[in-house]
Amino acid sequence: MKQLITHLDAGTNVDAGGLMPQSTSTYTDLAQAEQEMDEFFRGLPHCLGMSGDLAEPGAFFTSNDLGTPILATRNNEGRFRAFVNSCRHRGALVETEERGVKRRFTCPFHSWSYDAGGTLVGLPKADHFGEVGEECLDLRPLPAEERHGLLFVHPDPEGDMDLDSLLGEWFNDEFPTWNFGAMIPINHDAYDTACNWKLAMDTFGETYHFSSLHKDTLFNSFHGNVQCYDDDLAEGGHNHRMILCRRDIDEMRHMPEEEWDITVAALPVYWLFPNVIIMPFAAGCFLVRAYPAPGDPGRHTSKIDFYMKPELKNATGDEAAEVAEFIASIARNFAEIIRDEDYVMSSSQQTAANSGALDTIYFGRNEPALHHYHRVYAQKLDLPIPDRIESISR
Ligand code: FES
Ligand SMILES: [Fe+2]
Repeated sequence: MKQLITHLDAGTNVDAGGLMPQSTSTYTDLAQAEQEMDEFFRGLPHCLGMSGDLAEPGAFFTSNDLGTPILATRNNEGRFRAFVNSCRHRGALVETEERGVKRRFTCPFHSWSYDAGGTLVGLPKADHFGEVGEECLDLRPLPAEERHGLLFVHPDPEGDMDLDSLLGEWFNDEFPTWNFGAMIPINHDAYDTACNWKLAMDTFGETYHFSSLHKDTLFNSFHGNVQCYDDDLAEGGHNHRMILCRRDIDEMRHMPEEEWDITVAALPVYWLFPNVIIMPFAAGCFLVRAYPAPGDPGRHTSKIDFYMKPELKNATGDEAAEVAEFIASIARNFAEIIRDEDYVMSSSQQTAANSGALDTIYFGRNEPALHHYHRVYAQKLDLPIPDRIESISR
């Protein structure tokens, strides 16, 4: 907050130390998209939700965003499990619903059924089918781990669940302070959008656009073009954190420091490499995940999940109705801004990139998160890392 106040008073912003040219091919190149799919999506553990998404035994969700069809469950002992969502008989998707609670997962094809621990518990006409040894045809497990109230799955059954590296020491220290594990899921949106998944990430990476694109929406409650930025690149990491500046800081800065609250005066935005944005705020948390469309660098799906803090559930009577309306309005407003403002720009950027008419775009000194995204991607894919430049000249 002190950094933000200093910037506000001086009329300055964070400074990346230079400008950064970026080739537009990163949004259009099919070979790069395939490499990203293999290395960033199939090749890493991924955060697919929060503990509250699987609040009870038998709770489940499915995912088809990472190449492998995934069924994630809470088993009868309360443990988080994940499986290849493919029947061990002839491979049909066992569970076709997105989420819910079930005692049994029954394959629609011939009705083999599995429990929440993936155990094959029903095989109709077993005497006709032939002998199946115990545990031979349970659902194939995927590496799964619940950490800091976040649910991680590796889409490769042989994958390495290395959350120490994915989260780094920094996020492993800091995430427990947010109590993500207690958050209650309220809303799940999915937007199939005509832009590369990295353009979706880009739009979350700066507030330079608030006074322009969001002048009638977000700019009413945020100072634009002011933010803090930190990353763990120097420690060998690949994540970053921004603190965006809410206008409530104008009042809070005059309060005693022990009453300061970063979620009232500001908005923390965590980027978890490669495709996850986590934004905790006073009433809850947004989780944004962007997934490429296989074979099409110009499309992606954003999953936007909204979670509420458990304290808000305790309201009763009139207050409960007010809280419900307040919560619904947060989810609605955020969805509208992302869909109708940010992703409209992302699609227009994609249209131009597809044309190939401009081979380079530029990230400003005041857009350090964008430098970071693209330097990390390039580094991991062994592509040339763009140098920062002092100025743009003819
Ligand atoms: S493929 Fe699932 S029961 Fe036959
Ligand atoms: Fe935006």
